[in-house]
Amino acid sequence: MATVTTAEEARAHLLGVYAPTPHLFVQGEGSWLLDDQGRRFLDFTSGIAVTALGHGHPAVTQALKDSLESGLIHTSNLFRTAPAEALARKLAIHSGLDRVFFCNSGGEAVEASLKFARRSARRGGNAPDRFGVVALRGAFHGRLFGSLAVTDRARYREPFEPLMPGAVFVDPMDPEALERLDPSTIAALIAEPIQGEGGVQPLPEAVLQRLREWTTRHGIALILDEIQCGLGRTGTLFAHEPSGVRPDILTLAKPLAGGLPMGAVLMTEEVAQAVRPGDHGTTFGGGPMVAAVALAVLEEIADPAFLAEVRRKGEILTGLLEGLGSRHPERITEIRGRGLMRGLRLAEPVAPVIQAAQERGLLLVGAGPDVIRLLPPLTVTDDEISQAVRILEAAVEAVPSPTVSEEVAS
Ligand SMILES: Cc1ncc(COP(=O)(O)O)c(C=O)c1O
Repeated sequence: MATVTTAEEARAHLLGVYAPTPHLFVQGEGSWLLDDQGRRFLDFTSGIAVTALGHGHPAVTQALKDSLESGLIHTSNLFRTAPAEALARKLAIHSGLDRVFFCNSGGEAVEASLKFARRSARRGGNAPDRFGVVALRGAFHGRLFGSLAVTDRARYREPFEPLMPGAVFVDPMDPEALERLDPSTIAALIAEPIQGEGGVQPLPEAVLQRLREWTTRHGIALILDEIQCGLGRTGTLFAHEPSGVRPDILTLAKPLAGGLPMGAVLMTEEVAQAVRPGDHGTTFGGGPMVAAVALAVLEEIADPAFLAEVRRKGEILTGLLEGLGSRHPERITEIRGRGLMRGLRLAEPVAPVIQAAQERGLLLVGAGPDVIRLLPPLTVTDDEISQAVRILEAAVEAVPSPTVSEEVAS
């Protein structure tokens, strides 16, 4: 085999759906990633809201070691294993929901939630037209045929249409939008309490309460997608908690198993009662190794003292970002988000600033063309937060302010 000399050659056999940075990461330590040249990068992406406990957290490492020593990585759902049962119980207790279905990713969790909602809407077999799903403008729910249909990004959807039929989008800030729909055709409404990919856009509590009121009034399932904003990221275990709203279905994934692939759909007993054996399934869902790691992650994150720290560090981060914004008011137009899920809206495309930050040792990710997302590990230190904002400021100052003609078009 020919020697691989360039990054292009090394990647020649990977499908070109991603455009990764040139760094080759070989090690993780807390909030830091190390590349093969020994350079250290402060990771304010957490693998896009996944590694909530940072890299190499002792609880995750220990759970993995114990799991490996037991020799029990996979058995299939033909058989019982203890970690999934314990995890389902803990998730139910924490969420106030009753039943849990485990899968392997966010997209799969959304897909399953849509199936369960339809099944529930058609309970008794007398509502065949009740299959529509209402989604919100700016939503991102995944890239499978159902989750993509309820994702408000034409660029992602159009090349693959037709997708799941029945998706309709409404503007969450328009109080009349739902009233214009025919509820008898609708099985579910799906919403992210804080839109992640859509620009770190929190849904006001009053809007969330209005969505709950409308769905309850018409017997429509309310699905809350907390795949990105859930599990401690906003300073409460679930992002919808402060609103007092109880969803019928809740989707989780990204941080659930500390970096291992896992998704979960939580639901009320009423929804669960509509789902029959064989209605849905997935070979790897709730395997003993991922579930054991998720149990360890949940143990850490659900601790009230841990969540209080997330809130405190979120305040520090916001304070520093506000300072940064006040020094560059013509370039930084808005600071959004909650807890350790923050967005910085720029009056220019964010890609050059993200690139400049990376050159200075800080990893960031965009959310749309004009928002920089900050998703540090929930274990980030105060000092690391200060370092990150200092680097971000240096990056903003290193990128020349664009002329009017170069400003963001959309
Ligand atoms: C809110 C939300 N839902 C669903 C998904 C899809 O998750 P996955 O990429 O694991 O399929 C994402 C991914 O970014 C997300 O942010």
